[in-house]
Amino acid sequence: YNVPKAINEPINSYAPGTPERKALLDTYKKMFNEKVDIPFYIGGKEYRTGNTVEINPPHDHKHSVGQYHTAEKEHIELAVEAAAEARVKWAATSWEHRAAIFLKAADLLAGPFRYKMNAATMIAQSKNAFQAEIDSACELIDFLRFNVQFMTEIYTNQPISSPGIWNRMEYRPLEGFVYAITPFNFTAIAGNLPAAPALMGNVVIWKPARSQVYSAQVIMELFKEAGLPDGVINMVTGNSATITDVLLNSVDFAGVHFTGSTPVFNSFWETIGKNVGKYKSYPRIVGETGGKDFIWAHPSAKAQEVATGISRGAFEYQGQKCSAASRAYLPASLWPAIKESVLKDIASFKMGTPEDTTNFINSVIDDRAFKKLSSYIDQAKADSDAEIIAGGGYDDSVGYFIEPTIIVTTNPQYKTMSTELFGPIITIYIYEDDQWEEILDVVDKTGEFALTGAIFSGDRYVIDIATNKLENAAGNFYINDKPTGAVVGQQPFGGARGSGTNDKAGSVWNLLRWVNARTIKETF
Ligand code: ALA
Repeated sequence: YNVPKAINEPINSYAPGTPERKALLDTYKKMFNEKVDIPFYIGGKEYRTGNTVEINPPHDHKHSVGQYHTAEKEHIELAVEAAAEARVKWAATSWEHRAAIFLKAADLLAGPFRYKMNAATMIAQSKNAFQAEIDSACELIDFLRFNVQFMTEIYTNQPISSPGIWNRMEYRPLEGFVYAITPFNFTAIAGNLPAAPALMGNVVIWKPARSQVYSAQVIMELFKEAGLPDGVINMVTGNSATITDVLLNSVDFAGVHFTGSTPVFNSFWETIGKNVGKYKSYPRIVGETGGKDFIWAHPSAKAQEVATGISRGAFEYQGQKCSAASRAYLPASLWPAIKESVLKDIASFKMGTPEDTTNFINSVIDDRAFKKLSSYIDQAKADSDAEIIAGGGYDDSVGYFIEPTIIVTTNPQYKTMSTELFGPIITIYIYEDDQWEEILDVVDKTGEFALTGAIFSGDRYVIDIATNKLENAAGNFYINDKPTGAVVGQQPFGGARGSGTNDKAGSVWNLLRWVNARTIKETF
């Protein structure tokens, strides 16, 4: 199929003095000083119940940029009906028309929606301009465009036929709705989780995270402008437990596309398991959950490269990435040079609000995250097997600010070596150089996760050993690079073990989960 070839959207750096920087910051200021009144969307209709939640920028939490309305149980039941109604036409819409809608959405986001989407992500999710650009513009555009390409690869994947017999495969949408439940930390993930099943002809009920509703509304506007029919993606807000209860207990439940915490995902499996006889088909369960991502360096590594891996891998977006480096195992011989370089990097990081585009560190997402992170910092200050060598400060008087913090521990089983913190804290264990091979077992066996990980070495023999020993320790494995920043179309993303079902976001394998394949044999 001759669809436009997907290429990664170029990143705008918003360099000082450029018109793009001015346009983005003007949009930010305007939106920051307005008050939005965000509805939820069912069957294309906007609902405002009067039960509202205030939206406060995490970096300025006494300020309000408006509110969003929350749904009750009966609205979620209505969403199930609206999705079923929309499914009749959407499932019968040709793939070309579905593709065209999402390709148009990508072009609109690359053009007129770009500043608005980035500004919404900066305001309510506290990303700086560059982080917002690579997430809510480039990555979401890439998901939309590459998925269209992957869809065509699926459709063209056909079995062999023989004279008199024509075998073919149809990739039909699932019989029911898909529940998309999305996190605060990537606007791109929030857009992709409902969009990918919808592209494959499914109808979706989408619940964004409470702190991402601001950019979620912009996503809904984008899809509407691109021509997505009413009811194909229904966005509901409100109490997660109520929403999940209605949706997982519906006979029309056909699958879940999830990014969030491991315990919540586990509870989905349990509920789905209890209900399994009730559904029309076995539901698709696709999830990306937690991470406790590692950096391991061998004495043959370049100290400077390891240091950059730590500074950027652990602290970009305040470490609020499932992929963020949060535990490191470093050889004693390299430690002094790595330490010097990382401390220099941290000293150069400016902390503050995202509209000052020179700030590298902004606030963490909310009061809950702030309290959790500051309590782990306090514990490390008190524990005899831990030492804080950088950061350790926090302040929530204006925004939820936590300094980039490095804990060095003498205990490879120290609690922050295995517990996911989701913030700007990395814990480092220094090992004796000759223990490099046994420490790989510690890397592999610590904690429940297997999302991302990075090894650093200049020795091909060592790289081979580490790659093999860590074969199940990370779904995204980096050699001589930080463990974050997977690019759609280049490094399909997703982990195993307690990190998820490894159905790689932005890939053929992910899209295949959203189809009911029918094999047709026709005899002449
Ligand atoms: N895809 C994101 C990354 O790789 C989570 O950092």
